[in-house]
Amino acid sequence: MPLSQQTIDTVKATIPVLQEHGLAITSRMYDVLFEKYPQTRALFSGAPEDQPKILAAAVAAYAGNIDNLDALKDAVERMAAAHVRTNVKSEHYPMVGDAILTAMQDVLGDAATPEILEAWKEAYFFLADVLIKREEELYASSEAD
Ligand code: HEM
Repeated sequence: MPLSQQTIDTVKATIPVLQEHGLAITSRMYDVLFEKYPQTRALFSGAPEDQPKILAAAVAAYAGNIDNLDALKDAVERMAAAHVRTNVKSEHYPMVGDAILTAMQDVLGDAATPEILEAWKEAYFFLADVLIKREEELYASSEAD
């Protein structure tokens, strides 16, 4: 199912907010993730210190290209490769989704309206589906080797 125009418009309208608070949101995201889902911590054992910055940039790039996903093809390939290398699986995506939405609420407060949170939830799981499908292909082809 493609994203609705309303979701696309709402996500795009949050770009300035993300530019201002993106790093605070992704830093908070990791705190929430590791507290609520401690089993995810080990996946990041080799991650660079600026991983929140990397994720903030990825989220901002996604928001900017949400109506032009072809522009994200190379980024999707890099993310999928990093996820397969670190053994990220489909069951981890709802955990990160929950942590991202909680972090948006914590950092943005009342500015995170129900409309914004709903739009981001849809947008997150849309990208998650793209990544999960690509990662499944990569896992399957490495098993076939
Ligand atoms: C839509 C959701 C997600 C986005 C946009 C995203 C984004 C990214 C990006 C941009 C990178 C860096 C890729 C590179 O090295 O070039 C990355 C790496 C990584 N991500 Fe994700 N990610 C997502 C979901 C997840 C989930 C669900 C997990 C598991 C809890 C996860 C765990 C990791 C790990 C472990 C790395 C590698 C860190 C390292 O370099 O060792 N990600 N992700």
